[in-house]
Amino acid sequence: MKHLVHINDFSVQELTELIKVGEDISVNTAKYSDVMKGRILATLFFEPSTRTRLSFESAMLRLGGSVVGFSEASNSSVAKGETIEDTVLTVEQYADVIAMRHPVVGSAERASQVLTIPLINGGDGGNQHPTQTLTDLLTIQKEKGTLHGLKIAMIGDLKHGRTVHSLTNAMSRFDNNKFMFVSPKELRMPDEIKNTLDADMYTEHESIESVIAEADVIYMTRIQRERFEDQAEYERLKDVFVLDTKKMQNAKDNAIVMHPLPRVNEIHPSVDKDPRAKYFKQAQNGMFIRMALIMKLVFETCEQNFTDDLIGGDNFAINENIKNSSRVSYERVAVN
Ligand code: NCD
Repeated sequence: MKHLVHINDFSVQELTELIKVGEDISVNTAKYSDVMKGRILATLFFEPSTRTRLSFESAMLRLGGSVVGFSEASNSSVAKGETIEDTVLTVEQYADVIAMRHPVVGSAERASQVLTIPLINGGDGGNQHPTQTLTDLLTIQKEKGTLHGLKIAMIGDLKHGRTVHSLTNAMSRFDNNKFMFVSPKELRMPDEIKNTLDADMYTEHESIESVIAEADVIYMTRIQRERFEDQAEYERLKDVFVLDTKKMQNAKDNAIVMHPLPRVNEIHPSVDKDPRAKYFKQAQNGMFIRMALIMKLVFETCEQNFTDDLIGGDNFAINENIKNSSRVSYERVAVN
């Protein structure tokens, strides 16, 4: 069973294929409008979310499928003491694919171990956020035309920010990318992520000014209040980096500014008008790439080749095959 728990669950080839399909979806969205007809996505969100949950839901709806789920643990049986395993084992009786967000590191891994339908990790604590990374890769590919040879400045809370952990894991597997990690010393990129990089692939900094002129991608992140043990430390560090129009004067003309959102203070709203600001487009790309991801995982569960006949042609040939194949859950009933 193919899940997406960690961004490294996908090879570079699989990432490249997904981005290609995501680009096609963003141009020819209507072509995919009933690919998931009759199928159900369950969204299990034990932690707050706007973009991730809504983009998953709109992705499934735009593919012609349906969505069930909850957006707060208090609305589910978890509030009665149910384990993650029991919750997902129940939900798999109803759905074809699950997207789950949970505050505990490793929760997605645990859930994936018991499931026989695909699980997508929508963020597990401060650990990984692989679908945000797919969103980021699609945005970089569309805006920069490549995923290779880029200088990427990651700025903010690199310790607790799961998006920058997953993005570093992914971009370091494409050729010749370099990372400039900018954070207060208390919030540095964790060693377990840096240890996956060669020493000449990254540098560490404590100011935006020291990197902005060199960066092709300026990736801003929020200081993650909810992950601090000491709230006084959060108060001290929360406004340490603010990207504003003055700092943007020193950025390259063809640099792009990204942010997984939500933003707090770290990008001044006046930057929004700068054509290099791509964070709202990035949110839209999140929906397109999640459409590609849902198709990939559901098709592969049905042993369909994800890319065969997918791009090109006016007709979506694979659609007929999928319609004719039995639903995942029915297959399981048949073998039991
Ligand atoms: C991010 C997350 O949840 O980690 N948000 C998102 O999914 N777009 C970033 C954040 O919360 O700071």
